[in-house]
Amino acid sequence: MNNCPVGESLCYTNIMKTYIVGNWKMNFSVGESSVYLHKLLQKVRAARDLKIVVAPSTIALQPLSLQTDRKKIRLAAQTANPHDFGAYTGEVSFTQLRGIVDYCIIGHSERRHIFHETDKDVRNAVAAALRNGITPILCIGETETERTFGETYDVLRDQLLGGLSQVSTEDIAKVMIAYEPVWAISTTSDARLASPDDISAVTQFIRHTLEDTYSKKVASEIPILYGGSVRPSNAGAYLTIPDINGLLIGGASLIGEQFLDIIETARRVQS
Ligand code: 13P
Repeated sequence: MNNCPVGESLCYTNIMKTYIVGNWKMNFSVGESSVYLHKLLQKVRAARDLKIVVAPSTIALQPLSLQTDRKKIRLAAQTANPHDFGAYTGEVSFTQLRGIVDYCIIGHSERRHIFHETDKDVRNAVAAALRNGITPILCIGETETERTFGETYDVLRDQLLGGLSQVSTEDIAKVMIAYEPVWAISTTSDARLASPDDISAVTQFIRHTLEDTYSKKVASEIPILYGGSVRPSNAGAYLTIPDINGLLIGGASLIGEQFLDIIETARRVQS
């Protein structure tokens, strides 16, 4: 990553919590999800400063919400429809997810690119999540082509400010951001992993943009997660990037040992 428009290092976050979020995507049956959650609950300890969140398929959310111990593991939806109710065949709204999930991943690159979600859809979803007491995890990230053409920071600024444009000044502190460079998602090649320097430059940029748009307080209080081929072997390096407050994990969150290993790493990094 280069040409970061933010020169000096800000590093002014004072967030003490670390978030480890597993995005299960379209994997596991309801039964498999329940067995997996059961095993995780047996191994995970409740900790105030380490928030563990899993995002199962929509179909598994309701039963898992009855099964989970929220002091240990909280649930996120992977998407939801911004309308509260109505004739939207096949959709599930944030209103329907109230009380079932604490978080919702919004604007994931797979939603943007495969399901053609626009910045307007994303902004409506962020507003609907907040309206329904659900914490939005707003995902932003540039594609390989955008990166190659030097458009990274323009894309990130548009996605960030576009996604937040309906958020009131009271609600802004309830939002979380996840930076997921599309080119680094689900890669098997180490050469294609985002480097801590790449990520650090982007988190600086995000906080700087938040400071310009809102305030230094807002910029320092919004958690920023990193996602893109996080594994036990690189989680420590990513978690020690200044200003990163956690990880959004796809593939490795589907493998119990790996997910637990990353949770342990987060604990070690914190202590
Ligand atoms: P991977 O960890 O499989 O690259 O997925 C990242 C992701 O998309 C999480 O939302």
